[in-house]
Amino acid sequence: MSDRPRVFSGIQPSGDLHIGNLIGALDNWVKMQDTYETFYCVVDLHAMSVPYDPAEFERSRLNTAKVVLAVGVDPKRSLFYLQSQVPQHAELAWILGTIAGIGQLERMTQYKEKSDRSGQNLGLLSYPVLMAADILIHRVNAVPVGDDQTQHLELTRDLVVRFNGRFGELFPLPERITPELGARVMSLQNPMVKMSKTDPDPDSYISLTEDPESSRRKIMGAVTDSDRKVRYDWDEKPGISNLLELMSFSSGRPIPELESEFGDAGYGPFKKAVADAVVERLAPIRGRFKRTEDAEVARLMQKAALDARTRAEATMRLVR
Ligand code: TYM
Repeated sequence: MSDRPRVFSGIQPSGDLHIGNLIGALDNWVKMQDTYETFYCVVDLHAMSVPYDPAEFERSRLNTAKVVLAVGVDPKRSLFYLQSQVPQHAELAWILGTIAGIGQLERMTQYKEKSDRSGQNLGLLSYPVLMAADILIHRVNAVPVGDDQTQHLELTRDLVVRFNGRFGELFPLPERITPELGARVMSLQNPMVKMSKTDPDPDSYISLTEDPESSRRKIMGAVTDSDRKVRYDWDEKPGISNLLELMSFSSGRPIPELESEFGDAGYGPFKKAVADAVVERLAPIRGRFKRTEDAEVARLMQKAALDARTRAEATMRLVR
């Protein structure tokens, strides 16, 4: 046990991980390893709340774990495991479910969107309660996520207040950690909707492991507006603003500096510079991904699950 503050976050194995996942969340997962005690999960139980192919699901869990490791989550410093291998998550979810209000769950934006698309099921409705259990099972202080998880984090905090109020102080109130830029990376094909792993159009996202030529083509083809100015303005120029954030993240250069360099350069040269920066930023991730053996990842995940179970069980004893 360490006395450093603790962090939990999770990612669903439901499609290719993309640059939005990296900028919104995974980049902070990696950075927080320096100062926090870190717990990270591939949340496979969550991904079962929408239709999936069982054979593909198995492959996708391993692949997601491989990408997270390639991004820089270090199994020596983080407890990184598969959610379904630690049954205490589901047990705590049941207990939290007894103090969660159905009205609040029905009002969740993601529930409304997903149930319109995939049909309703109880798992989809109680999804945020399982997410609260993920966070609380390690009694963490902070949760690095993208902007789209804000409502779920609010519910978690409500459950903490309710649980502690009824049964005694047990859980810290977890803080949401989002990056200043890129907490909501938008689709390259429609800058009004967020970049998503489950978008049927693969041109809408840059996968973390795709080949550089494909990333370049997608960025060159990104939807922008007709005026030629490179300016950071989400109301008037969402496509360009999204590309500016991608470039600022990838190159480490501040947006005002990019605006003064590319302001009048025209979209072609600007997009080419964005593509160069993104390709360079992703190259080491793709390299590490290709060098990692599936069997090695499976072994790491098995071992981490044993440790995670011991840790989770310590919390469950207090909860029970
Ligand atoms: P998921 O799997 O959809 O996404 C993983 C993380 O990536 C962030 N993200 C984005 N950030 C910026 N721009 C985007 N376009 C973008 N798309 C995704 C997400 O905010 C997330 O941080 N419910 C969660 C998984 C989860 C979880 C948890 C997270 C389950 N239990 C406990 C934190 C704590 C989800 O569906 O993430």
